[in-house]
Amino acid sequence: MAKDIISVTVKAQKADPVALKSDLLAVGVFSDAKRDRICEEIDKLLGGAVAKVRELGDFEAKVNTSALLYGDGKTGSERVLLVGLGERSKATIDTIRDSAALAAGKAVKLKVRQAVLALHGGMGRRGYAARLGQALAEGVYFGSYRYDEFVTTNEEGRLKELTAIVADTDAGKVRQLVSGVKVGSVIGRAQSFARTMANRPANAMNPARLAAAAKEVARQTPQLSCTVFDERQLKQKKMGGILAVGSGSANKPRLILLKYTPARRKSGRATIGLVGKAITFDSGGISIKPAAGMQDMKFDKSGGIAVLAVMKAAAELKLDLNIYGIIPSAENLPSGTSYRPGDIVTTYSGKTVEVQNTDAEGRMILCDGLHYAVEQKCDVIIDIATLTGACIVALGKHKAGLMGNDSALIKQLQSASEASGEKVWHLPSGEEYSEEMKSKIADLKNIGGKWGGACTAAAFLGRFVGDVKWAHIDMAPVEAMFEGGKKPVSVGSTGFGVRLLTTYLMTMAK
Ligand code: BES
Ligand code: ZN
Ligand code: ZN
Repeated sequence: MAKDIISVTVKAQKADPVALKSDLLAVGVFSDAKRDRICEEIDKLLGGAVAKVRELGDFEAKVNTSALLYGDGKTGSERVLLVGLGERSKATIDTIRDSAALAAGKAVKLKVRQAVLALHGGMGRRGYAARLGQALAEGVYFGSYRYDEFVTTNEEGRLKELTAIVADTDAGKVRQLVSGVKVGSVIGRAQSFARTMANRPANAMNPARLAAAAKEVARQTPQLSCTVFDERQLKQKKMGGILAVGSGSANKPRLILLKYTPARRKSGRATIGLVGKAITFDSGGISIKPAAGMQDMKFDKSGGIAVLAVMKAAAELKLDLNIYGIIPSAENLPSGTSYRPGDIVTTYSGKTVEVQNTDAEGRMILCDGLHYAVEQKCDVIIDIATLTGACIVALGKHKAGLMGNDSALIKQLQSASEASGEKVWHLPSGEEYSEEMKSKIADLKNIGGKWGGACTAAAFLGRFVGDVKWAHIDMAPVEAMFEGGKKPVSVGSTGFGVRLLTTYLMTMAK
């Protein structure tokens, strides 16, 4: 399994954050709120330094901005980082997560060993502290993440470890913070794991290696088991979709099956199936993609990796649910053995598909995974995939597409999206769209018309779940961040889906 690129520890502790000894104290500041005890205390200790940066206009406390002051032996920390929270009335749990991410990012940059996070007095509502603790921990993991496992000479360098302490003087609040930080650390660690796996290039990550990583996760996680179908077993089971896509590469396809069963025996638990696309490299196959940007198609495994990381988090959180993680994985390359445009493929479900474009390969592997989930009698099936460029055209780079056949499930995922800060937008995928996917010479074809490609792709998938409640997340828009984003996100995989789906499962398990 991937070792943590940077080893992060987050804890909550009853202490005065201003006095606590550390290398950096991060304090949230609203742009409009007048008084805050911690800020005032620091201002006094530093001879009016906080008031001064604000007066000078060097720091307006807008979101995603910060200012660094020096403690000069007067505060417990060497450095004091003022983190902008923006307008108080607009602040949400996202603001808190993002501010922790920003602070953690600065901490890594400044080579800080230990950072203290102070809650703003205005965010400390009773009963809310557990959620705050969770968001802070998630943010620390997210913001401190760097992908540099292949960098051998880094002039800037960074430390291997970071400890963040959420300090508060109210014992009751600290108890809640501690429990929230525990949950947030599990999710944060799972998300960082997902980012590392997704960031690995195709010469370091192929279907067999992904399967080995999944086995390793299962070995280390109680109540999580993993079975892998290799090419021989895929043939035996007639999983024609996965086999077709994988046929062009020397790196043979796999179907990775994870299962989480809670330790305590109980009947009547819901069973959730998560299905994730793991194309370890998508060249397009015979319908080859243009060269520009093709390197980013190493991220085409991100949906499957999100499922793997969510299974790890769900098991560590001991959720009261049965969960399947189903990860079809293949490498889509052109060669003398590739599947071709025009081929008719018999999928695992028995439905036949006319291949009109080998680059629409995600749906060809997902349909076998979805049918497998139906066979396991899942009550709910959710798939997640970097499925279409059309979804990026529709939504830009800020939100993932969300489709499905059940309005209650869509609403649950929308709430999970709000709580987790991983944004989704509901798009249609009904009857009109599935009409477009009918073939004249087979049951289905794998591409629709020119328009609405995200919706026709979803409609294709919807044909493989029968009447099981199902949702589809097209994460192509948000899979990876490249330079220029406003938020403090390091380049490469965002680990999207890990927070969203774990949050969804947590509410289902309650
Ligand atoms: N993996 C791509 C989708 C994608 C594109 C993800 C850009 C992230 C960024 C997918 O397999 C694909 O190639 N889809 C085609 C479908 C088309 C041939 C119907 C697309 O979107 O162009
Ligand atoms: Zn493709
Ligand atoms: Zn693809």
